[in-house]
Amino acid sequence: MQSSAIAGFSKLTVEEKIKIIKEFSDLNKVDLELIRKYQELPDFLELENNIGTFKIATNFLVNGKDYFVPMEIEEPSVVAAASRGAKLIRAGGGFVGKYLESKMIGELQLLNINNFEETKKNIVIKKSEILKIANETSKHIVELGGGAKDLEIREVNTERGKNLVLFLIVDTLDAMGANIVNTMLESITPFLVELTKGKPSLRIISNFADRRIVSVKCKIPIEKLALGNSSGEEVAEGILNACALAKVDIYRAVTHNKGVMNGIDAVSLATGNDWRAIEAGVHSYAGKKCYQPVTGWWKEKEFLEGKIEIPMAIATVGGATKSKKATLALKILRVQNARELGILTASVGLANNLSALSALVSEGIQAGHMRLHKEFVELRK
Ligand code: MEV
Repeated sequence: MQSSAIAGFSKLTVEEKIKIIKEFSDLNKVDLELIRKYQELPDFLELENNIGTFKIATNFLVNGKDYFVPMEIEEPSVVAAASRGAKLIRAGGGFVGKYLESKMIGELQLLNINNFEETKKNIVIKKSEILKIANETSKHIVELGGGAKDLEIREVNTERGKNLVLFLIVDTLDAMGANIVNTMLESITPFLVELTKGKPSLRIISNFADRRIVSVKCKIPIEKLALGNSSGEEVAEGILNACALAKVDIYRAVTHNKGVMNGIDAVSLATGNDWRAIEAGVHSYAGKKCYQPVTGWWKEKEFLEGKIEIPMAIATVGGATKSKKATLALKILRVQNARELGILTASVGLANNLSALSALVSEGIQAGHMRLHKEFVELRK
């Protein structure tokens, strides 16, 4: 068999799928045994507080509540780093976080608009009618206090002429929002075509979630930062130097933010969230003017203080959050809603950043990383 284009592959049983892959890739008995073993115990999951399904980060104290954090990631050192960062931050009272705003934006692109001023006026006049049509599609979310809340109109000059871009501003509550927002956009399109005589094109949520921003702060007693041969003061100073470089050097800023996303992606994945949307949101937010680190650290008396501010379109309902694995992760977390999960997830990013920076400016990143890697290699023998 040469082709990987198999009609209806997803409808086949696991055994049928394995048979196809076996033939295609010429798998032997040992390979097949391994596949079976990993069905029971997926690879990479055997280290760093593994409980079989996830690795678990410890020490998280966020807004006065304790959490064990399930993380899904191949790299054990990320989980160890999150736990170590959270331990340091716990010594300063834990993380304190909140959402600054919590709305998603959907875009409707309209082409061939003749009179922009006239059209904009007409849309404003019909605003409540448009919102009503949108909200008809999501009665449940409206009953709970969410739904389409506002419209904004933009004139955008593109290389193919001027577009009218309508922003639909939606509070999607505990959902990430893509399905809700996209459905709303499609539902209002016929009305807007009639109203504007424009030609509809894209109708899609924006992953630049700059109205769903979470902000988390923390502080650490400086003496607790001591690592290897470096004093707490030396580590704190090193972290300030690292941040100063990240602010002016994109090569460093992207790596700095990658370290933040190590933790955020792992929690997003464990909880069945769209981690690519979250990645896209965070990196684009970091680059909204000139690409910047998404965390900042400074000294305040005997403390090192830190902050993260990022878009966090994370969900506790909808999509794959309903999968068995994600349900288990959410249960372990004991979160009540998406906001709580977003604050926790951003806290994990801040913990990972603290841990990475403190290691980088003292003993180096390889010491801890290689210790865990060695354990992993030993375990595979
Ligand atoms: C590696 O996965 C993450 C780090 O590169 C982050 C950083 O450099 O800040 C260590």
